[in-house]
Amino acid sequence: MIAAKDVGKRFGDAADGVTAIANISMNIAEGEFVSLLGPSGCGKSTFLRCLAGLEQTTGGTLLVDGKPIEGPPERLGMAFQRDALLDWMNVLDNVLLPADFSGGRRREFEPRARELLKMAGLSGFVQAYPRTLSGGMRQRVAMCRSLLLEPRLLLMDEPFGALDALTRDQLNVDLHRLWTQLRMTVVFVTHSISEAIFLSSRIVVFSPRPGTVIEDIQVELPDERRLAVRETEPFGRYSRHVRGLFENMGLLHD
Ligand SMILES: Nc1ncnc2c1ncn2[C@@H]1O[C@H](COP(=O)(O)OP(=O)(O)OP(=O)(O)O)[C@@H](O)[C@H]1O
Ligand SMILES: [Mg+2]
Repeated sequence: MIAAKDVGKRFGDAADGVTAIANISMNIAEGEFVSLLGPSGCGKSTFLRCLAGLEQTTGGTLLVDGKPIEGPPERLGMAFQRDALLDWMNVLDNVLLPADFSGGRRREFEPRARELLKMAGLSGFVQAYPRTLSGGMRQRVAMCRSLLLEPRLLLMDEPFGALDALTRDQLNVDLHRLWTQLRMTVVFVTHSISEAIFLSSRIVVFSPRPGTVIEDIQVELPDERRLAVRETEPFGRYSRHVRGLFENMGLLHD
């Protein structure tokens, strides 16, 4: 579905600019859940924005379904660290926003919006306004919004980064369950080693800027992810391995 070959992105001109990413190569198949893990400033968001068609690459080739990206791909869903809910719209209207933008298809999508909110445990909050919700509830609403148009490709940029640890754990479980049910392709940016292992079928580790792929790790854990998987030996092995990569890059030490 996604084919990146030697992708680079430079901001600014040759004399006075920043190379955010360099020589990024990876292929992502339909239905994979891939986490991009790397230090702050290594270009994870930049790469995601290139995939979303919001930013143009300056080197290499980046294809979705075999075609160069010119603007946002069809059936794209996005979720960000800040939830981007509109304060003056209730929960249902916030979730339905993408249907408004896609040619006034609110009525068509309202049953799905309600169903997603139910799946997210928010049935009782359909009419509520964002300011009356907790951070975790807001992020759930944002997740429902990103799923409204049944995306084939879901791009998530640290969606749970601002949440407390317990809420984040719960949302990890919920997101993983949604992914096993819907099987859309997900590219998920995170700083958290354990979040990446818990959620992903594959982890791509980036170097410091200019970001490039250090290692591409296939994660093999039971399909049904329970939080207790984090205490198992295989999980510990992945965790030690990834930590070792960061130690070798000089980004972590005791
Ligand atoms: N629009 C822009 N103009 C100029 N430089 C930019 C722009 N966007 C990003 N950069 C630079 O590109 C580099 C990579 O930024 P990016 O936001 O992709 O990193 P990141 O890996 O997502 O970091 P973090 O984990 O902190 O979110 C940084 O040095 C940043 O300053
Ligand atoms: Mg970022």
